[in-house]
Amino acid sequence: MTEKPEAKQTLEPTSRRRFLSGAVGGAAAAAGLAAARPAVAEGESVITEVQDWNRYLGDGVVSRPYGTPSQYEANVVRRDVEWLTASRQSSVSFTPLHELDGIITPNGLCFERHHGGTAEIEPSQHRLMVHGLVDTPLVFTMPDLMRFPRENHVYFLECAANSGMEWRGAQLNGCQYTHGMVHCVAYTGVRLKDLLAEAGIKTNAKWLLAEGADAAAMTRSIPLEKALDDCLVAFKMNGEALRPEQGYPLRLVVPGWEGNMWIKWLRRIEVGDQPWQQREETSKYTDLLANGKARRFTWVMDVKSVITSPSPQAPIRHGRGRAVITGLAWSGNGRIKRVDVSLDGGRNWTTARIDGPSLSKAMHRFYLDIDWDGSELLLQSRAIDEAGFVQPTKNELRAARGENSIYHNNGIQTWYVKADGTVENVEVS
Ligand code: CO
Repeated sequence: MTEKPEAKQTLEPTSRRRFLSGAVGGAAAAAGLAAARPAVAEGESVITEVQDWNRYLGDGVVSRPYGTPSQYEANVVRRDVEWLTASRQSSVSFTPLHELDGIITPNGLCFERHHGGTAEIEPSQHRLMVHGLVDTPLVFTMPDLMRFPRENHVYFLECAANSGMEWRGAQLNGCQYTHGMVHCVAYTGVRLKDLLAEAGIKTNAKWLLAEGADAAAMTRSIPLEKALDDCLVAFKMNGEALRPEQGYPLRLVVPGWEGNMWIKWLRRIEVGDQPWQQREETSKYTDLLANGKARRFTWVMDVKSVITSPSPQAPIRHGRGRAVITGLAWSGNGRIKRVDVSLDGGRNWTTARIDGPSLSKAMHRFYLDIDWDGSELLLQSRAIDEAGFVQPTKNELRAARGENSIYHNNGIQTWYVKADGTVENVEVS
């Protein structure tokens, strides 16, 4: 399903000045919820009158052998941006973050990024070869891999290009498009270091080349130190087999590091003493600076957050009164220590409530419960991780890295909530 988001420009300076003059935000209190309006207890027709769904028997068990969401959730889908890439095979789709809650992304909604389309692999025909600077080159079948000790971990996976279109200004109207190249699932797999130990690593080994079995034969160089630290070779996500578009039957998990290194359809790991020359079509993950030089090997995904609701695709529809502001925060450095939310474009901050598991290199869910008086808001969230890194403003990021970058944009996002509850992607200076 494709939807063409409205491309939009940064607000004109006059409107920016209006925001900064204090016309916005001051009247919305983050504390003291309004008294809940009682529901109408009598004469509520959906209860007092018999509805279709309590008049007739419903479908029996196994009418949907593999369960699917309610027909009323048909809008909750991955979407792509047609003009963004030349082909669907080397392209990206986006997670509908604005429709989700908690920290786990459902398997069918995890964003996709392929360089040669989805490989459909018969698992009995899949192999993982480990060779190069090892004592004994090995080839594992899927059943071979199942005999190693398994681990379960929840990790976020973010494409290095997530928010890349927002470097020069507010561009895409929805967090699905500005921040949707991220997902977070529970992986089951075996430790890469156990497989390497089985083959026996030579003392001069320093790097791995991981290669996928897809049409692009996607490859990435990975430092041995990371492989021995926390990399997994995973075959399950959220308890079931990996989806084909997520690397079925086997993918590499590189916790906290940029998504292009998490090689899908993993078929080969070569141990070497230096990084490999990247293939040309997959070598673009460098960060071009203002002086024309490029940052290479920028792997860790920095501390980042975004408010998922309200947001342009999830406006406030209920009018003034009790309202929930919610979003996601994550960091490749570990756990999220704190998330602050601003209602006035970053002048005042309130600490949000993190609810649910707080796991290293996983998404964190935060909430700020407010009493909205119907005035305009400039919503922002700012995450701080356990290593002490603070999410920067977009201007701070541009001052450090220029405007030529595409990758590693972890700048603070601003949503402009209007009095009618609709929301726009804007920037404040
Ligand atoms: Co990078």
